[in-house]
Amino acid sequence: MSLLDAARDVRENAYAPYSKFKVGAAVRGASGTIYRGVNVENVAYPEGTCAEAGAIAAMVAAGETELVEVAVIADSPAPVPPCGGCRQKLAEFGRADVPVTLATTAGARLDTTIGDLLPGRFDASHMDNV
Ligand code: THU
Repeated sequence: MSLLDAARDVRENAYAPYSKFKVGAAVRGASGTIYRGVNVENVAYPEGTCAEAGAIAAMVAAGETELVEVAVIADSPAPVPPCGGCRQKLAEFGRADVPVTLATTAGARLDTTIGDLLPGRFDASHMDNV
C-alpha cells in the first residue's frame, strides 16, 4: 500500500465535528512500517490535534523515532499544507530531504520535502552555547 493510500483510508476516521475538515496523514518509519493519524478536534477548540501529530505519536509509541516519508490528504481546493506547528513536529523526526506528498481527495498532488516546508528551522545546534 502506498503511503498516500494509507492517509486517504485513515482520513475517514478523522474526528472533525467542528471544522468538518477531515485530514489524514501517514508517515513511514525507517523500518518501513506505516503509521497513520487523523485530526482529533475538541469542543475546547485549542485542544484539537492535527493528523500529522497523530501519525507521529503512533510512530513514537511503536518505538520508532525516524520517519522517511510523509503523506497528508484532505478535501481541499489545493493540496493541504501542514500547519506551522506540524512542520516543526515533522522536522523533529525527519531529515530535510524527506519527501512529503500533499494531496487532495480530488486527486491533486504536490510533492515537497520537510526542508522546503520549514527553511531556517530551529534545531538542536541553536542551543550549542548552553
Ligand atoms: N489540520 C490538520 O489536521 N492538519 C493540517 O495539516 C492542517 C489542519 C486540521 C486541524 C483542524 O482539525 C482542521 O484541520 C481545521 O484546521
